[in-house]
Amino acid sequence: MLQAFRYRNDVLHAEGVSLSEVARDIGTPFYCYSTASIEHQYQQFSQSFTGNRVKICYSIKANSNLSVLGTFARLGAGADVVSGGELKRALTSGIQGSDVVFSGVGKTGDEMVDALEAGIMQFNVESEQELAQLAEIAKTRGVTAPVALRINPNVDAGTHDKITTGRVWDKFGIPWPEARDIYRLASNMPGLEMCGIAIHIGSQLTNLEPLEIAFRDVADAVSSLRDDGHNIKRVDLGGGLGIPYHFDPLTLEALDSSPSVESYAALISKATDNLDCDIILEPGRFLVGNAGVLISKVTLLKESRGRLFAVIDAAMNDLMRPALYGAFHEIVPVVSSSAEPEYLDVVGPICESSDVLAKGRRMARPDPGSLLAILSVGAYGAVMASSYNGRPIIPEVLVHNEEYSVVRPRSPIDEAMSIETLPPWLERSFELDTM
Ligand code: LLP
Repeated sequence: MLQAFRYRNDVLHAEGVSLSEVARDIGTPFYCYSTASIEHQYQQFSQSFTGNRVKICYSIKANSNLSVLGTFARLGAGADVVSGGELKRALTSGIQGSDVVFSGVGKTGDEMVDALEAGIMQFNVESEQELAQLAEIAKTRGVTAPVALRINPNVDAGTHDKITTGRVWDKFGIPWPEARDIYRLASNMPGLEMCGIAIHIGSQLTNLEPLEIAFRDVADAVSSLRDDGHNIKRVDLGGGLGIPYHFDPLTLEALDSSPSVESYAALISKATDNLDCDIILEPGRFLVGNAGVLISKVTLLKESRGRLFAVIDAAMNDLMRPALYGAFHEIVPVVSSSAEPEYLDVVGPICESSDVLAKGRRMARPDPGSLLAILSVGAYGAVMASSYNGRPIIPEVLVHNEEYSVVRPRSPIDEAMSIETLPPWLERSFELDTM
């Protein structure tokens, strides 16, 4: 079920807010998120874990709007960040530094310094080189960096190739036998506390078996590391839990089955209950994916050689996932339609053929000027947007009960241009031309 998004009197609402009315107030396209849906997902996730040894570090990369982060901060979540920018966002939104884990294969020295200053909970380190640099920086500053090595378990997550991260040929993590040696090496380096182990094998996992294998490998690694004398007190099992993307266009019931959070929690409990470790989890998509919709207006319908195109005012620059991964997103009318379904392509106005949001989709033919809602865009939607083709970054709206707030305004093209400058040689020739 798509939490918090419902037709009321034939108009799609986010909680108590009519999406037609928001479109009338602020124009299209725009992203809209539901607070109730975010809270529901967070609570469902956290309540699946009994005891207080699980720390949920929301993976900020999924949706880093400050209002979304503020919602998570209020719920007591920590954060998984992958850049200095995300760290700043987390701290600004009220998440404590001590609740932050820093992942990623290419942390820069400056980012390490910022994270040490923020007193983060853990660096998830992905190479020997990164470890040496972190040790040096921490030593110079007279502090100790808490470290987990991210293991590459060589497990295929069975998800989309571009979001699979745990195979040996992926750039992520360190394969196990080498990792064991690096722990040994690191325990003699000043500036480091080797206190954890981390994995993340991929995103949008709809089959839990690869996770089960990877979790077992991690549990085995913890025992071996303890045998080697390391004080491993934290296990970070990453994110990756998949969500439904297919919905019944009328009832908004989920059509594809995704693994339940309870079964995911059971796997974690089975693998880690005997470890006497704190567990960090880094869910992103599960918490926000189905909490967001993208509202767009149909600019025109175009029929060409028997093919029907609905050209809309949102495009691949606003939502990259279909163009980049061939991802499927359900598209429904904002005002419910009784038109007979037919096959059509929903496309944006961008000048390349990858700008297709749905291809050969069977859906009610929309009228020009009508509104469409693209579903399941709360994760990896707005965060991946660009201003390609001179298009403004679109607004984001957060709903709370009967209220909504524009939490990021449309950035007009004048604003984007205002930070660009001409180099001196062009300025000079411009002055000469206008003399
Ligand atoms: N932890 C780490 C280290 C990660 O790299 C990721 C996602 C997560 C946690 C959160 O994974 P989630 O629970 O959201 O599956 N842009 C792609 C997804 C990229 C995921 C990158 N890493 C998409 O639109 O599908």
